[in-house]
Amino acid sequence: MEKSGGVRATMTVLICVLCSSSIAAVLLLFFGVGTSGLRRANSYGSLKLDYPVSATSSSPIIQLQRNVISSTERPVQAVSFTSTNESSKSNDEELDPNLHRRRASASKVKTLISRRQRLEMGLARAQSSIRKAASQINILPPNFSSDPVEIPPFASVYRNPRAFYQSYLEMEKRFKVYVYPEGDPPIVHDGPCKNIYTIEGRFIHEMEHDKSRFRVTDGKRAHVYFLPFSVTFMVKYMYRPLTYDVTPLQQFVSDYVGVISARYPFWNRSSGADHFMLACHDWGPHASRGNPDLYNNSIRVLCNANTSEGFSPQKDVSLPEIHLLDGNIPSALLSPPLLAAPRPHLAFFAGGIHGPIRPLLLRHWRDNHRDPNILIHEYLPSDLDYYTLMLQSRFCLCPSGHEVASPRIVEAIYAECIPVILSENYVLPFSDVLRWEAFSVRVKVSDILRLKELLEAVTEKEYRTLKAGLRAVRRHFVLNRPAQRFDVFHMILHSIWLRRLNINL
Ligand SMILES: *[C@@H]1O[C@H](CO)[C@@H](O)[C@H](O)[C@H]1NC(C)=O
Ligand SMILES: *[C@@H]1O[C@H](CO)[C@@H](O)[C@H](O)[C@H]1NC(C)=O
Ligand SMILES: *[C@@H]1O[C@H](CO)[C@@H](O)[C@H](O)[C@H]1NC(C)=O
Ligand SMILES: *[C@@H]1O[C@H](CO)[C@@H](O)[C@H](O)[C@H]1NC(C)=O
Ligand SMILES: *[C@@H]1O[C@H](CO)[C@@H](O)[C@H](O)[C@H]1NC(C)=O
Repeated sequence: MEKSGGVRATMTVLICVLCSSSIAAVLLLFFGVGTSGLRRANSYGSLKLDYPVSATSSSPIIQLQRNVISSTERPVQAVSFTSTNESSKSNDEELDPNLHRRRASASKVKTLISRRQRLEMGLARAQSSIRKAASQINILPPNFSSDPVEIPPFASVYRNPRAFYQSYLEMEKRFKVYVYPEGDPPIVHDGPCKNIYTIEGRFIHEMEHDKSRFRVTDGKRAHVYFLPFSVTFMVKYMYRPLTYDVTPLQQFVSDYVGVISARYPFWNRSSGADHFMLACHDWGPHASRGNPDLYNNSIRVLCNANTSEGFSPQKDVSLPEIHLLDGNIPSALLSPPLLAAPRPHLAFFAGGIHGPIRPLLLRHWRDNHRDPNILIHEYLPSDLDYYTLMLQSRFCLCPSGHEVASPRIVEAIYAECIPVILSENYVLPFSDVLRWEAFSVRVKVSDILRLKELLEAVTEKEYRTLKAGLRAVRRHFVLNRPAQRFDVFHMILHSIWLRRLNINL
């Protein structure tokens, strides 16, 4: 609805450049934190608590996902398929002026209800059109090939290309997000824009500072509500290093929900089910425990998408971890590599030994003592370059570390080095839309000893297909400023849209 001019874009760049340095310095004074408090908490040993295990989804076509909470008088309805009628499809977003006048005289509450009903009807129409697209297996939708979502034969990277395409268009047409204005930077309305948790700050800034077409300033017109706090910055400013005490984070989250639920009607009416938070920090799931409804009902968009730690694929969203050291894609990975570039190494990994899986990997394969073509290092010798090795390898190993996600997955996608997923209980990003088996390989942790055998078993033809798949999904993992269609910002939003729409593709 609003246009974003060049000035806006420039401002965002500035804000993002500033966000982890000078603003932090100014706020240091404000918060009265000593330098030790500011130091990045660099040991993220996770707290071992007993969490419920959620089932992973493996559902075909389209399915209702969850019963959206309806504990209050005005629930967020699970949308009905039967209420749609094709002839009433156009311009449901716009108010008829007479209708508006009539509504204005009605009570405020009544206006709210009817507006909500209209929003829900819009969602029902979207659902119905997505279902229709999903069922038309042999009919290409209009403009399908001109909008290059599907470039045969790489439709294979999508679970259901037509349903995804239709759902994406419906999202562009309808989806509205309200961002709560409460709270101050750096913990709210700001976040890291470089290093490993980049995505947290970049999403918040994109949502807030660019006048996104998805953002509405009138909460009554929104489908979902965003709690724009940064767990990474909570850790940076509120956590006392080495205490492993996450209660300050939980207290902050609890207070924040307390404030917005007292000031606005939106939280209470759905018990948080149409609200979302986003965190890339390992402790995102811990922070979300600060409010039981946030944890149990809201859409939690998390890098640490560990089903053993309560991540629910039906309701939560897996967020890709993208490591941008200085906020930009490393120049070596900026453009897709030459298809014919030689890849002499079979497999590559370099990284610290943390978490449960990497010790196994390093014990067996470290410093290529078993095989010269399998390059497994803890710390890379200074004469070797990380990205160059990725670009020279056929497979890049992506084992979980302290948490399930690894930034190597996205780096491998950029480098067109087939990601080898070595993780347990990890729900891969955008797996609601993408078929990861079309562009990655999964090796069970118990098969680490057979790594070479398994990778060598991939035929040249299969390898080429996987590589082509990587090229096809690259744009879904790229951060742009400002965001561009089908890029990572929009894919995250699309995952949230699907949860709100309450369907699986
Ligand atoms: C939709 O409504 C129109 C007129 O109100 C009616 O003629 C048509 O049959 C309806 N279509 C469906 C699918 O119910
Ligand atoms: C198809 O593309 C044309 C030109 O790009 C555009 O005018 C038209 O609205 C599109 N149709 C649909 C259904 O998106
Ligand atoms: C929401 O519920 C809480 C606790 O039940 C209550 O304190 C608060 O006033 C309610 N908010 C609104 C806007 O009514
Ligand atoms: C989620 O809901 C259950 C049942 O109401 C409750 O026992 C549990 O404490 C909630 N989880 C969190 C983290 O608050
Ligand atoms: C996932 O969660 C479980 C349960 O807390 C934990 O044992 C496991 O180490 C976690 N995985 C990773 C890679 O952190």
